Amino acid sequence: MFKVVVCVSGGGTNLQAVIDGVEKGAVTNIQLVRVISNNKNAYALERAKNAGIEAVCVSPRDYDDRESFNEAFIREVNAVNPDLIVLAGFLVTVPPQLIRQYENRIVNIHPSLIPAFCGTGYYGIKVHEAALARGVKVTGATVHFVDEGMDTGPIIMQKTVAVQEDDTAESLQRRVMEQAEWIILPWSLNLIANGKVTVENGQVHVSE
Ligand code: GAR
Repeated sequence: MFKVVVCVSGGGTNLQAVIDGVEKGAVTNIQLVRVISNNKNAYALERAKNAGIEAVCVSPRDYDDRESFNEAFIREVNAVNPDLIVLAGFLVTVPPQLIRQYENRIVNIHPSLIPAFCGTGYYGIKVHEAALARGVKVTGATVHFVDEGMDTGPIIMQKTVAVQEDDTAESLQRRVMEQAEWIILPWSLNLIANGKVTVENGQVHVSE
């Protein structure tokens, strides 16, 4: 069984999609061992508890500086010795030491078709505001491995979503979640946990 830690900051709908996938048997060979939030009020923590998953909060506010927070965060991850770390709406920069330790074993979900609307400042609703401002007709979501850049790691899976004439950032965000994120995140995890994903020269290959 692949031991998985999920890191969250907010509502946790992507976490829920993974929990549901595991419960329904669509995602196999995965054990969700711990959920870590940087925000003690994140509803994602409730979702974890409801599913019987250990839920932990490590907030930068409780530490004097970034280095102390990073050390505490790394300790909470390493305590359960995971095979995979999933950033499911985790809005904190992951410490570079952790990225090096878990090379190609940290997965992130991003609400656009990378390389569009990604990098510094592009998170959550801002991504959809930027997409609408640019007038794109198609957007979507991307699951990728995390490297030391911002949204630059090897792409595992992407799914497109059509933009509608009357979309607001909120309606688009919701549709990207429903039609893309909640599908490709559990799907990618299932492929990884079942040994179907390899990375070669920065490119992901999937065998089904
Ligand atoms: C999701 O849309 C996810 O793609 C996004 O945050 C949201 C979290 O929602 N992540 C980023 O923007 C990362 N750059 P959730 O807490 O309901 O899963």
